[in-house]
Amino acid sequence: MNSYLQASDFFKGNDPEKIAAKYGTPLYVYSEEVIRQHMEAVGKVITKYDYTANYSVKANTNLEILKLALSEGINCDAMSMGELMMLKKAGFPSDRIFFVPNNVADEEFEYAIDNDIIVSLDSLSQLEKYGQLVGRKGKGHECAVRINPGVGAGHSEKVITGGKKTKFGIAEADIPKIYEVINKYGLKLIGINQHIGSQFLDPQPYLDAVENLLRIARDFKGLKFIDFGGGYGIPYHKLDDEANYPMEDFKTRLQPILDAFVADYGYAPMFKSEPGRFCVAEGGIILGRVNAIKENSGRTYVGTDVGMNTLIRPAMYDSYHDVEVIREGKVVPREDMSEVNISGQICESGDLIVKDRMLPNIEEGDLVAILDAGAYGYAMASTYNTRPRPAEVMVCLDGNVKLIRRRETYEDLMSLF
Ligand SMILES: Cc1ncc(COP(=O)(O)O)c(C=O)c1O
Repeated sequence: MNSYLQASDFFKGNDPEKIAAKYGTPLYVYSEEVIRQHMEAVGKVITKYDYTANYSVKANTNLEILKLALSEGINCDAMSMGELMMLKKAGFPSDRIFFVPNNVADEEFEYAIDNDIIVSLDSLSQLEKYGQLVGRKGKGHECAVRINPGVGAGHSEKVITGGKKTKFGIAEADIPKIYEVINKYGLKLIGINQHIGSQFLDPQPYLDAVENLLRIARDFKGLKFIDFGGGYGIPYHKLDDEANYPMEDFKTRLQPILDAFVADYGYAPMFKSEPGRFCVAEGGIILGRVNAIKENSGRTYVGTDVGMNTLIRPAMYDSYHDVEVIREGKVVPREDMSEVNISGQICESGDLIVKDRMLPNIEEGDLVAILDAGAYGYAMASTYNTRPRPAEVMVCLDGNVKLIRRRETYEDLMSLF
């Protein structure tokens, strides 16, 4: 593909140069259309049985994006009290929120219990703490536990969340102990969940994990729901024609696994999944300005205002993001290429968005568009080097561009002192 921005009509006829001039750079730009398409797709993963996709909001908690999930009819997973509060602010009723925290103190559990939000407990000690609180509050008896299924998968060791080497979940061997705590506090276990990792384009590890969780689920009687976790991948190498997650093939292969379980278990509990990245990654890009170009020992560095403070994924996970170059509002064709590095403004040698990549010739003053930045982009942005975080805008279905989070100011940064 020569240009994702053109192929998807990302800006809906708007001139990206004008958007950048109005809102400044670096700037997160989202496509309502692309995000809605992905949210709609995850909502249809299972159609034969009762099912809900829970958008994992850790990927992107912008209020307007949460409202898209609300209107698409999908539910949400939250990992923290802050995320719970954002979901409430977006208008989510409590029964459309699932709280999946780890290692939290009473305050966060209390917020969930007071708001009638179902909690998943990640360890026996958290289950114990939760049980004590429920005893004191006299509500919140229904709960879930997160199982560590003993297997994991993902694009980097840092995103593998199942298996013996991770901190997450309760091991299968401890199921009898789960019941000891449940019985001690009069809790009612209504669901189990797992999440094995992130960004797989081959559905097989996820299907294996579903099968494995359903095997484990047979040890739990009377479950109301079973949650298989997130992890569906997106093609970060789309300009090199990497294929999409094979959603239809995945659905076809998932069905008989569910059928076999339902036949055996006697009924179909509600099935859930927890996709984050898949919902929002491709619907977000970052526009950055090229401020300087230099040669250092034979290597070309394109110095922009998009650094690891704006997008940490390349520095943190060695992640790859496609880049398009925009000059005078037009995408520069991918021809006449040369090898460059794209860096930001942070005083760290790891502050590289792109390493040794063939890109169309870049000039000072150009815009770079960093693709697939809608997930774990702004959500992980920081004020490192005391740089305010960027603004976020959304290109709406009708082509209007609206500001959905203002740029942080220096005053904002000073105001904490
Ligand atoms: C418990 C849990 N659920 C869901 C997700 C979403 O994963 P992804 O964005 O890969 O779909 C994560 C992310 O790590 C997670 O930790």
